[in-house]
Amino acid sequence: MTGLLEGKRLLITGVITDASIAFHVAKAAQEQGAEVVLTGFGRMSLVQRIATRLPKPAPVIELDVQNDEQLAGLADAVREHVDGLDGVVHAIGFAPQSCLGAPFLDAPWKDVAVALEVSAYSLKSLAVATLPLLSPGSSIVGLDFDARVAWPAYNWMGVAKAAFESANRYLARELGPKGVRVNLVAAGPVRTMAAKSIPGFKELEDAWGERAPLGWDVNDATPVAKSVCALLSDWLPATTGSMVWVDGGVHATGM
Ligand SMILES: NC(=O)c1ccc[n+]([C@@H]2O[C@H](COP(=O)([O-])OP(=O)(O)OC[C@H]3O[C@@H](n4cnc5c(N)ncnc54)[C@H](O)[C@@H]3O)[C@@H](O)[C@H]2O)c1
Repeated sequence: MTGLLEGKRLLITGVITDASIAFHVAKAAQEQGAEVVLTGFGRMSLVQRIATRLPKPAPVIELDVQNDEQLAGLADAVREHVDGLDGVVHAIGFAPQSCLGAPFLDAPWKDVAVALEVSAYSLKSLAVATLPLLSPGSSIVGLDFDARVAWPAYNWMGVAKAAFESANRYLARELGPKGVRVNLVAAGPVRTMAAKSIPGFKELEDAWGERAPLGWDVNDATPVAKSVCALLSDWLPATTGSMVWVDGGVHATGM
């Protein structure tokens, strides 16, 4: 049996530990036959070490989405490993401490601006940087936390995710005529480094499993990873500008 992603060349951002959602996406994608190139931010030797834990060690390119030079050089850096891309995964989020858990009313604009640039605007930056490598049929997938409602503690990261969801829809409009799909997976809480940095997020994690009709395991990123792989595959060919909830069904419930 051939894998779901046989022959697909994928660029996956956002690996920092082996708990990262991006790590599980890379693992599942390789298991389904994809060739994976990673990007890493900041702690490059750590990312390179984590990359060797994949079923097939993957090359790592340095990418800070706030660095215009690195964005401009990304396509050439990717070409050193693969001759084009069939998919790109955006698994990048960051907000300064004042934006998370602290009183919502206290976060200064300079911090909010960082959260918006790294967590929302970067979807556009990554799409533009990789566009020269994407041919019709390609798929861009981002990792979202449902921003239609206000959650405890998530604060300005929630505002950034709302911008991310809107950017997804506008990118879908722009890139659809080029045959490129853009979609988000709205994941339930997964215990990663980013999630642990949100004071008060644990309460949300604890409540999730009780509310989810299908149940939910915060230590298991596999359902999220598999769903990202489905969106990267050829099996959702007419889906773009969408959000796929992978949250055990919480989004569909009231109390
Ligand atoms: N963990 C959850 O509960 C959860 C739920 C829904 C959505 N998400 C989203 O999933 C994505 C991945 O997060 P994760 O939970 O796997 O955590 P993680 O900490 O493993 O990954 C976050 C990544 O963002 C990268 N990053 C931060 N600033 C960057 C920059 N300037 N340039 C490039 N990369 C940068 C980090 O290096 C890291 O690899 C994020 O967008 C997050 O919001 C997470």
